[in-house]
Amino acid sequence: MIVGMPHAPEIIVIDDPAELADVAARAIVDAALEAVKARGRFMISLAGGGTPRTTYERLAQSPLREKMPWAQTWIFFGDERGVAPEHKDSNFGMANTALISKVPVPREQVFRIRGEDGDPEAAATTYARTITEVFGVRRGELPKFDMILLGLGVDGHTASLFPGSPALKEVFRQVAAVHAAAAMIPQRFTLTFPVINAAGTVMFLAAGAEKAKVVKGSWVSRVARCRPPWPGPPRAGWCGCSTGAPHLS
Ligand code: 6PG
Repeated sequence: MIVGMPHAPEIIVIDDPAELADVAARAIVDAALEAVKARGRFMISLAGGGTPRTTYERLAQSPLREKMPWAQTWIFFGDERGVAPEHKDSNFGMANTALISKVPVPREQVFRIRGEDGDPEAAATTYARTITEVFGVRRGELPKFDMILLGLGVDGHTASLFPGSPALKEVFRQVAAVHAAAAMIPQRFTLTFPVINAAGTVMFLAAGAEKAKVVKGSWVSRVARCRPPWPGPPRAGWCGCSTGAPHLS
């Protein structure tokens, strides 16, 4: 799934999806405060799909809403479907409803992928250019997100990097336009592995027995340390799983 993280990934098994959302939301706030203290800003890439929605809702509620340094937070997206932001299957749409529209993050610091654009390659290139400009990195230099949130499909896909997709082998482009024939909405856009692997922390959120099988089957569970929710700020590379995952613990 995700390689190149500095520390061994940690799998945190949480029995209750609501508690998974709490733990994940707290981890985002801790990472944000740490990043702002160290670098003056927090660069996060949000995940799509359904699993992160509750985490986003927690972040938009007290007490975490008051703790989060929204003014120093920059929000990007790890992937998007080929739809307009108001479409029911838009990842931006989901995150905007659950979080962005409810918190004082400056709108000029929120960058969505224009899934509705007629030229997918151009939309992917434009998003990559936006990332380069906002991070202030030279062309071809990798942006270093403080945190990248990812989900996990039952087929093992993450972001919009699907099994067998040529985008899995992408080493130059930071954002790829992808045609995922098996997906509900085949036209996709996704960050590529070089960008994901350069992140300070990659956090997977996976819920349910089906996803537990995927995590169990992946190399992550062979190298990960399983332990109960951690007390302090997250270390690079961990994923939270919840209910129906007894065989992970
Ligand atoms: C997407 C996602 C994708 C998602 C997984 C899990 O656009 O579909 O970014 O990678 O995270 O498909 O989706 P669920 O959380 O809905 O199970």
